[in-house]
Amino acid sequence: AKKPAGVPEVPGRAITKIGVVGAGLMASQFALLFARRLQVPVVLTDLDQERVDMGVGHVHREVDALRAKGRVTADQATRLKKLVTGSMTKEAFADADFVIEAVFEDLKVKQKVFAEVEEVVSDTCVLATNTSSLSVTEMASQLRHPERLVGFHFFNPVAVMPLLEIVRGDATDDVTVATAFTAAKQLRKSAVLVKDAPAFVVNRLLTRFMGEVLASVDSGTSADVADHALDGLGLPMTPFTLLKLVGPAVALHVAETMNAAYPERFPVSAALATMVSTGGDTLHPGRGFVSNEQEVRERAL
Ligand code: 3HC
Repeated sequence: AKKPAGVPEVPGRAITKIGVVGAGLMASQFALLFARRLQVPVVLTDLDQERVDMGVGHVHREVDALRAKGRVTADQATRLKKLVTGSMTKEAFADADFVIEAVFEDLKVKQKVFAEVEEVVSDTCVLATNTSSLSVTEMASQLRHPERLVGFHFFNPVAVMPLLEIVRGDATDDVTVATAFTAAKQLRKSAVLVKDAPAFVVNRLLTRFMGEVLASVDSGTSADVADHALDGLGLPMTPFTLLKLVGPAVALHVAETMNAAYPERFPVSAALATMVSTGGDTLHPGRGFVSNEQEVRERAL
């Protein structure tokens, strides 16, 4: 297959062990995908044991679902469960060559995570962020080795969506970008290389689309009409179903990042802000919007 534009010619580094920081819904989905496609150990960490256990538990349930569908053999299922483990300490990353984070969408939080990770990993370990919208260049600015940070942005549902955005920060070096593309290929994702701009490319477009749907609700259109107006165009899901899948809190973070960069073009919807601040049942009381990842996860199980 043709290489996407801008991918460096240098070979990527081999990945033999992966560290994942943040054992939430998205992270546990890609932890399993890494284990399944790369067949390497994957260690999940989070702030407390409960979250780590939930992440690993989610992976185990997904493996059972794959087994039930006949997508993996009994031996493969057992092996996958062994490959994905949880740990409370980042020391477990000492021999990892690829560490990816999917923690709370806040620059300072992510910088702190990477500072801790840099204390334990080797100098050649690639660091990746699943950020939806934050600047990879800024995130890397505090690192001892800023050249090893790359954006590696998955889409929900991780196992199903073919797309992956690979984001090159100002300092990211060729071998790091090449390693990200090698990993994407092993994951069987269609990776695109994008510039380090607010919300990159995909969420920038989606935020604009979702923003207009929400703005029409802000200005008085009923939520049902706005949600179903495009039914006849064959979108895979309605805008508010997509919002629920992504999580209103995540969508609000992205909208705020876009608003900070381009206030005129990206106003933050009052309906979205209310949905998040009130726990989220404002738009579709009957359908039970949920507003945080924990609830999304509980309802998904
Ligand atoms: N989690 C895991 N797997 C899921 C899933 C979920 N939430 N929803 C569906 N699937 C799986 C199903 O199990 C099924 O797998 P199988 O083939 O192994 O049985 C497969 O997906 C297809 O499911 P369905 O038959 O139910 O198919 P649908 O035709 O309803 O498609 C969909 C489901 C693929 C999710 C489709 O509705 C879709 O493409 N929606 C748009 C999703 C989208 O735009 N995502 C991007 C969000 S933006 C984002 O994530 C960025 C972030 O930064 C915020």
